[in-house]
Amino acid sequence: MFVRALDLAVNVSQVPQRSPFRYPGGKTWLIPTLRRWLSSIAISNRKKFIEPFAGGASASLLAVMEKFSKKAYFAELDGEVARVWNNVLSDNGCELAELVERFKVSKAATNRLFAHAANGAELSEKALAVLVRNRIQRGGVLAPGAGRLKDGENEKGLASRWYPETISKRLTAIHAERNRLSFANEDGFELLKRFRNDTEAVAFVDPPYLVEGKRLYSHWQIEHHKLFAALSDFRGDFLLTYDDAPQIRTWIEEFGYQAVAVKMKTTHHTKKRELLIGRSLDWLHHAPAKSGQAKAALVQATMRKRTSAGKFTAA
Ligand SMILES: C[S@@+](CC[C@H](N)C(=O)[O-])C[C@H]1O[C@@H](n2cnc3c(N)ncnc32)[C@H](O)[C@@H]1O
Repeated sequence: MFVRALDLAVNVSQVPQRSPFRYPGGKTWLIPTLRRWLSSIAISNRKKFIEPFAGGASASLLAVMEKFSKKAYFAELDGEVARVWNNVLSDNGCELAELVERFKVSKAATNRLFAHAANGAELSEKALAVLVRNRIQRGGVLAPGAGRLKDGENEKGLASRWYPETISKRLTAIHAERNRLSFANEDGFELLKRFRNDTEAVAFVDPPYLVEGKRLYSHWQIEHHKLFAALSDFRGDFLLTYDDAPQIRTWIEEFGYQAVAVKMKTTHHTKKRELLIGRSLDWLHHAPAKSGQAKAALVQATMRKRTSAGKFTAA
């Protein structure tokens, strides 16, 4: 097993943003890499794209809209996030896009919207409230206790984050593909289990991370070791992401997976290390050095070797 250190400097403006959410821990920066992974798998083996911890579901949207897969099946446990997915994928989904486009941002209007949404508003209005909240809470965090923009910042801050036309267009595009997007407000483990023997399925697995999860999500407690075990039962190919924590490295070794350490910058320009994990990551090694979007994504790749004692050290 090798651990390589990749410096993935993605110019996010070159990556299509399709999710209606500004999602904490979102994987827009990984899109060029996801394209390379999916391109490396025969089409018959990736007809079904599985995303058990979907959040903003940017990977499922990529798989379907760039025709890597015929259908994406994605799950999310958070009821608020699920409201939006259920709504936009329903026959009424256009209504949400229209509500978004019409919503005029102001502190009074958001307070009115939230109060109304809490008191039995229409489903599309409740979904609108989730999207607005996702824009005005710091870092897009929807979990209880997440800080809102300060009062003084509110009007200006919200206005600079609320792009009604753009969000509405994204919702319309998602609604148009609703027959190819299958969402369930369920435990991601159940979704993985349903497809575990399906050789046409590939899974992109981006769980709440071991260290950061609690701060970002209402649902952050999962059995991480059980996830590694569930993936060893999953017959199709998978790509798993995690924070670079010693415990995670132990499990990578226990299950005999390959891993790549990736350096990335968060939206706040903080540098972080994350791990890409799979049964085989040879597709990363064989990727064309300077083609298409890969050119924007892959700035530098250096190889690191694991010592025979099983430690990960720089070569
Ligand atoms: C790292 S985020 C996914 C981000 C996503 N890849 C994106 O680009 O937006 C992990 C998500 O898993 C959800 N989650 C946590 N436990 C879950 C479970 N048991 N089943 C399904 N979703 C779960 C969290 O609510 C969170 O939205």
